[in-house]
Amino acid sequence: MAIYQATASAPVNIACIKYWGKRDTKLILPTNSSLSVTLDQDHLRSTTTARADPSFERDRLWLNGTEEEIKDVGRLATCIKEMKRIRREVVEAKDPQAPKLSTFPVHIASHNNFPTAAGLASSASGFAALVSALAALYELPSSPSELSVIARQGSGSACRSLFGGFVAWEMGSAADGHDSLAVEVAPQSHWPEMHALICVVSDDKKGTSSTSGMQRTVETSALLQHRIKEVVPARMAEITAAIKARDFDAFARVTMADSNQFHAVALDTEPPIFYMNDVSRAIIALVVEYNRVALEKTGKRKAAYTFDAGPNAVIYAPAENMREIVSLIVRYFPQKDAFKDVFGLFGVAGVGEGGLV
Ligand code: DP6
Repeated sequence: MAIYQATASAPVNIACIKYWGKRDTKLILPTNSSLSVTLDQDHLRSTTTARADPSFERDRLWLNGTEEEIKDVGRLATCIKEMKRIRREVVEAKDPQAPKLSTFPVHIASHNNFPTAAGLASSASGFAALVSALAALYELPSSPSELSVIARQGSGSACRSLFGGFVAWEMGSAADGHDSLAVEVAPQSHWPEMHALICVVSDDKKGTSSTSGMQRTVETSALLQHRIKEVVPARMAEITAAIKARDFDAFARVTMADSNQFHAVALDTEPPIFYMNDVSRAIIALVVEYNRVALEKTGKRKAAYTFDAGPNAVIYAPAENMREIVSLIVRYFPQKDAFKDVFGLFGVAGVGEGGLV
């Protein structure tokens, strides 16, 4: 009796140009394109094993050992259904000898090797690993961009974790979403000096989820309309050029501006959403001062902060500056032994190739 099982893993990605807003909530089609860097560190990944067996009664999923319900029309069910459809159309319909895996229920076990309580987004790596594991199980010839269309329907930001390095999610224009997908801007090897420092300011579960927060912004923020029409298209072009030219100063300027504007549209939402706290703002002040001194001396910035839908900071910087940045952070923000719950955990993550293992 053959065993049909496959394992894949995918890393976390952190956006420099933020995705915030959907034009189609069912298909998860965004109101603007976005761009991120996929982290490389071994301890920021989701690893997922999928197994198909005719004796299973139904599709089931375990996350870090605890079973999660697969709701009928939910995002998990959509991803699993779509992957089975591709298996049917691309493999089984063409090769009558191929086992009919699309008709077997699947059992899926997923594990994050970073603490789920650390306040780091796990849905991006989670859905990317899920889709990658099913693609391996079903032996699909699909490219990472094609798989990103399915991962996107699990969680928008997940589509970018199908690639390592520097990745754009092109918003696309088709109503069925087939052209709303991730593309590689540059592999990690293009700019290996780029590093990321993750500063966990709080490991509380966030107050307003990305999904509901961005929907409220779409419904109530006038500033969002300006952002998606006037601001993001130019920034996508600018940051892509900065990455291609390995121009850290331009990369930093655009990344920080976009983090600021994302938090401005959150504030422009009714009722307003505050994701950053006093520690987040103090980290911004530190990076601004650090850059002010660098700009005075050399005319170039040395670090870039960015914040997602929570208070934790990610600081991008060339590797050569990291030691100095870490010592500044440690000096001004004592670690958890001294101030528990203020600054729980940090780590320097290389930026990596990611994708399938
Ligand atoms: C602030 O991808 O978590 O991290 O598509 O509703 O699952 P859903 O949202 P999600 O939103 C991520 C928002 C962000 C910015 C980004 O990653 O681009």
